[in-house]
Amino acid sequence: MSALFQPLNLGAILLKHRVVMAPLTRLRSQQPDDVPHGLNAEYYGQRASDGGLIITEATDTSEQARGYPGAPGIYTADQVRGWQGVTEAVHAKQGFIFSQIWHTGRISHSSMQPGGRLPGAPSAVVAAGNHMDRQGNVVPFETPRALTLGEIEEIIGDFRKAAEHALAAGFDGVEIHSANGYLIDQFLQDHTNRREDAYGGSIENRTQFLLEIVEQVTGVFGHDRVGVRIAPWGVSADIRDSDPQALFSHVSVELGKRKLAYLHIVEPRANQRSDTNALDPNAPDASSRFKGLFGGPVIAAGGFTQETAESVIHARHADAVAFGRLFIANPDLPDRFRMGGPLNPYDRATFYGGDARGYTDYPYLDTATPDSSPKTVTPQ
Ligand code: FNR
Repeated sequence: MSALFQPLNLGAILLKHRVVMAPLTRLRSQQPDDVPHGLNAEYYGQRASDGGLIITEATDTSEQARGYPGAPGIYTADQVRGWQGVTEAVHAKQGFIFSQIWHTGRISHSSMQPGGRLPGAPSAVVAAGNHMDRQGNVVPFETPRALTLGEIEEIIGDFRKAAEHALAAGFDGVEIHSANGYLIDQFLQDHTNRREDAYGGSIENRTQFLLEIVEQVTGVFGHDRVGVRIAPWGVSADIRDSDPQALFSHVSVELGKRKLAYLHIVEPRANQRSDTNALDPNAPDASSRFKGLFGGPVIAAGGFTQETAESVIHARHADAVAFGRLFIANPDLPDRFRMGGPLNPYDRATFYGGDARGYTDYPYLDTATPDSSPKTVTPQ
């Protein structure tokens, strides 16, 4: 029997199936104010399904949180109104939708920061490589400023406000983005956190920032409508830690005590830039290591197919599976899995930015022609 099509209690919501849409940055909000608009509502509405869960693309909690031109925000009245259109489109199909909220920290550029200041981070440690500026030009990363204690308090408050706005916009819950090398992950991992105050040093101290955000966000939504995404052993955005097993064990235990709706774990075996489908067979299996420590429902993500998703749930290493690239290309992914239908291949060139092309024009199963739709997606 299919494990993916069994119902699942995820905190306060009852899912009818376990095929979750992963958070996916698509850089198509209305400019210049980062406002979600009709095209975004159409995209999410297409991917909604009865009793299914969508997690939105990472959404800026403040102007200072921004790190990518075109990513949406949830800190102005216009943005909240825009998100209302999105949640209505999903709810019209009896789907659920959580808002993934973030702060990019050092993965930003002064051209996107208020007053043109340098991006703020736990410590002044520059990320290797290049980023993009407000105009989308490729530029080297800048060395960030170390945030002051006052600024840290403000950012935690911004997460609370973002949760209040998400509630006002009709979201069913919030996912705190603590993965992939962005600000919360920068606090967690010791390569980027060199602080000597209450937010740095020991694993307990480095976890403090996340836990204070969790406290604020659960104060708005309730513990059973809040999830957290982590990426143990993640290397994206030049992140690393000297002892990921110990760090993420502590994080999982602490989040477990707070009885959150779920813990969302990105598997390190998947290529983190998602630019190939190849999996690293030697990477540690994160979901199985942390699920027991967390104690509640786990969503696993990263390079899953229908088949491997079924097995990870059967093995009880996860309760649900989030799909990223397959959901970009297949608006009706749960139906295709249920019916064993062919999958549309995705077009990497249209992942980030642009218009309806590669966004809302992927065909549904009934209009797809089997010949042009290979059964397995090939990397492009
Ligand atoms: C992502 N991913 C991602 N993760 C996240 O936590 N927040 C985000 O906004 C994004 N944005 C994003 C955009 C695009 C275009 C891709 C391809 C990926 C990571 C994503 O949620 C997922 O973990 C990976 O895509 C791996 O899963 P799949 O694609 O192998 O199912």
